[in-house]
Amino acid sequence: MSQQFDVIVIGAGPGGYIAAIRAAQLGMRVACVDEWKNAAGGPAPGGTCTNVGCIPSKALLQSSEHFDQANHHFAEHGIAVSDVRMDVAKMVARKDSVVKQNNDGILYLFKKNKITFFHGRGAFVKAVDGGYEIKVSGAAEEILVGKQIVVATGSTARPLPGTPFDEQLVLSNDGALRMGTVPKKLGLIGSGVIGLEMGSVWRRLGAEVTILEALPEFLGAVDQQIAKEAHKAFVKQGLKIELGVTVGAIKVGKKGVNVAWTNAKGEAQTLDVDKLIISIGRSPNTVGLNADAVGLKLDARGAIEVDAECRSNLSGVWAVGDVVHGPMLAHKAEEEGVAVAERMAGQHGHVNFNTIPWVIYTNPEIAWVGQTEQQLKAAGRAYRAGSFPFLANGRARALGDTTGMVKMLADATTDEILGVHIVGPMASELIAECVVAMAFRASSEDIARICHAHPSLSEATKEAALAVDKRTLNF
Ligand code: FAD
Ligand code: NAI
Repeated sequence: MSQQFDVIVIGAGPGGYIAAIRAAQLGMRVACVDEWKNAAGGPAPGGTCTNVGCIPSKALLQSSEHFDQANHHFAEHGIAVSDVRMDVAKMVARKDSVVKQNNDGILYLFKKNKITFFHGRGAFVKAVDGGYEIKVSGAAEEILVGKQIVVATGSTARPLPGTPFDEQLVLSNDGALRMGTVPKKLGLIGSGVIGLEMGSVWRRLGAEVTILEALPEFLGAVDQQIAKEAHKAFVKQGLKIELGVTVGAIKVGKKGVNVAWTNAKGEAQTLDVDKLIISIGRSPNTVGLNADAVGLKLDARGAIEVDAECRSNLSGVWAVGDVVHGPMLAHKAEEEGVAVAERMAGQHGHVNFNTIPWVIYTNPEIAWVGQTEQQLKAAGRAYRAGSFPFLANGRARALGDTTGMVKMLADATTDEILGVHIVGPMASELIAECVVAMAFRASSEDIARICHAHPSLSEATKEAALAVDKRTLNF
């Protein structure tokens, strides 16, 4: 006998569990199915984000940043520390406990919102009268029927062809987040978001880190003035970043990995490392979903094809998050999850894709929203730019962290803010004001006229807005 639901959500990452909660809030009878297992084989809802993504990476970034501060920056504050040692096992255990708190938090939220959670793999069986039959394969097998289905099955790390992840020597994000010791030499392929965050963690802990990047430009999608500033800082910290690289044969030995590569000048090179992290992007995950059984359409990348409102080709089947088009970000998945739940309830859910912020949690942090200067130039849009360096910000000086700047781009005629790009301390928090400003279609003049607390890093945002009109007060 099957169990009946208004909505079955497949996947309990940020896209899925948030969709489930919002649907339950709107009065629907909701089931959520997720197959992620913790080390003991129990449920671990939260998806990539909670288990091997956003949360554990930020835990390790925090621990390694404390270590770096103690080693290199406490002295300038007059704090003498000696014999600073890193207990990697303890750091990783702390990270695991942070992950568990988040897993438990989601299980609690399911209970609170009366969502029925099923631990196992969810797969389409067939369309039935008024919905779809979903089989859950877990400790037991269950057959569920949902009037509407939300697919939120996320993404998985993309391997290099011919070099599968063994998570011992060749690591995806998963292995990169649970190394038991600091490798002497660490190689990374791809200097995108994961390459820079994971490279930073292990460099701070003492690894000699080399990143091989195919593109000739560093962080090509980021405003290039900001990317250049960040590149300078990373190189100064000791990250070796090789751009314009072609990766050749990869030989995995018993104790290390040898990578043949060609540099931007076409010269043959080799890199011998103890561990190699491959961070060249992620692929949408529909493995085991049995999409064919119901004719659910995928695109050429293997992502579920959806319209701008996350509707698939099948009536009553929606998809959100990494498994559909758009940036692979937890907050984008969540926004889509909320919007889909509201649409299922007959409301007008909405996601503003122009104001989705990006953050790279390195030191300095990099954060942006809206368009870059190179995008505006390519589009032929007339704009004015204003920037303000943290070097001239009192709070940044007091913190002892004056790297970087805030840069604002505004329409030359209407002054509407078109993009804000930050590299520097707490960029991840500062960007929120800029997202709000853009969501309300504020002008740079609006930000320039708002009182910002002194001394605060946010004054750099106000000053960047003043700089658009060439009237900074402190620079
Ligand atoms: P996922 O989080 O991938 O969740 C999908 C879930 O579905 C998983 O639990 C999976 O087990 C389950 N599932 C799949 N198929 C089935 C099935 N058939 N049946 C049952 N369950 C199934 N984003 C940010 O915004 N900020 C960050 O700081 C950030 N850091 C990251 C760091 C790393 C190292 C990585 C790898 C990613 C990071 N991301 C970050 C990206 C973020 O993790 C993803 O964008 C986000 O998790 C996508 O959410 P989702 O719900 O679409 O999918
Ligand atoms: P990415 O797309 O950010 O970066 C991949 C990099 O690898 C690119 O620079 C690309 O040019 C390079 N590359 C691709 N093929 C290559 C090859 N054969 N040789 C050398 N370089 C190659 O992907 P990444 O870092 O794997 O992260 C995946 C996604 O996860 C991100 O795009 C992001 O959506 C998400 N994420 C978000 C984070 C955040 O928000 N702070 C943190 C980590 C991941």
